[in-house]
Amino acid sequence: MELPSKVHVTEVGPRDGLQNEKQPVPADLKVELCERLLAAGVRQLEATSFVSPKWVPQMADAAEVMARMPRRAGTTISVLVPNMKGFEAALASRPDEVVIFGAASETFSMRSINCSVAESIERFRPVAQAAKAHGLRLRAAVSTAFGCPYQGEVPVAAVVDVAARLRDLGCDEIGIADTIGVATPNRVPAVFEAVAREVPLERLSGHFHDTYGQAIANVMASLQSGVFRFDSSIAGLGGCPYAPGATGNVATEDVVYLLHGLGIETGLDLGRLVETGQWISAQLGRPSVSRAGNALAARRRIETTPETN
Ligand code: HMG
Ligand code: MG
Repeated sequence: MELPSKVHVTEVGPRDGLQNEKQPVPADLKVELCERLLAAGVRQLEATSFVSPKWVPQMADAAEVMARMPRRAGTTISVLVPNMKGFEAALASRPDEVVIFGAASETFSMRSINCSVAESIERFRPVAQAAKAHGLRLRAAVSTAFGCPYQGEVPVAAVVDVAARLRDLGCDEIGIADTIGVATPNRVPAVFEAVAREVPLERLSGHFHDTYGQAIANVMASLQSGVFRFDSSIAGLGGCPYAPGATGNVATEDVVYLLHGLGIETGLDLGRLVETGQWISAQLGRPSVSRAGNALAARRRIETTPETN
């Protein structure tokens, strides 16, 4: 299959990236991260989540972060909402898009949102209706689509089933998520092809964590399967509180380096993304895990260091 000429990249660093940070990250820093990402050309930004602060304390400042979010024309600011309580709180903060998040495995669903897969769909139903009634874009995530930290293998049929139920709720986009980063590039087309029999490919996106170092290969395999929407996290930040050992999403800088190298348009400024990835990593007190980000930053340091002799 021909590669797409343009790819939509949703930046999830401020949400998926920061939700797993052990130390509280000040709202100031979260807002500045969003400002820098928007200045780098990000047009789809997953800013925070309206979940229980008892479950994910790092996201307890969602309303404050959203109140200070810069708004630009043509930019979609999205927030995660697990239920109506989250939706109502989110609505007051004027998101452009809300994201409901379910799973293809029962155990993960229980651990993450404390209900079965079937119950989660019933909880999402009024959220989906309310989102549509308020003219918001509605996105969904299907966690553990390639494997579950508790159950192991997840049948493709279970992924297709939950994706079809989310489609029936009216989702504009459904993210197929490799929560624990176990997928390999042969598995990726198999899952996307099966799901695409129920949900048009143009409404699907890829959400790959990089735990096993396969994420960029899986992005490539998805592109070859016709997928042109991806989530990524600046500097590869992140992990899921309910997936022990899982590391961050594929790094935005790595995805953009790949896409631009393939001649695919993203609208993103790689140089500014690299600066942002280096900056947030320094703020969090550790090196970035983006390979392209670190290589480009090192090259820039060499180019800008004055010769000494
Ligand atoms: P629960 O305990 O079953 O909820 O949690 P409940 O309805 O029984 O309510 C219990 C308490 O929580 C009550 O407060 C509610 O008011 C409160 P209390 O009376 O005890 O003081 N509550 C809330 N507070 C704030 N916001 C809300 C909310 N809802 C209830 N929205 C619940 C169910 C879903 C709330 C909980 O399990 C939860 O918040 N889970 C967090 C899940 C989460 O954030 N997971 C990580 C994000 S998903 C992800 O990372 C995966 C993804 O990246 C894709 C991938 O990689 O796989 C998207
Ligand atoms: Mg994730």
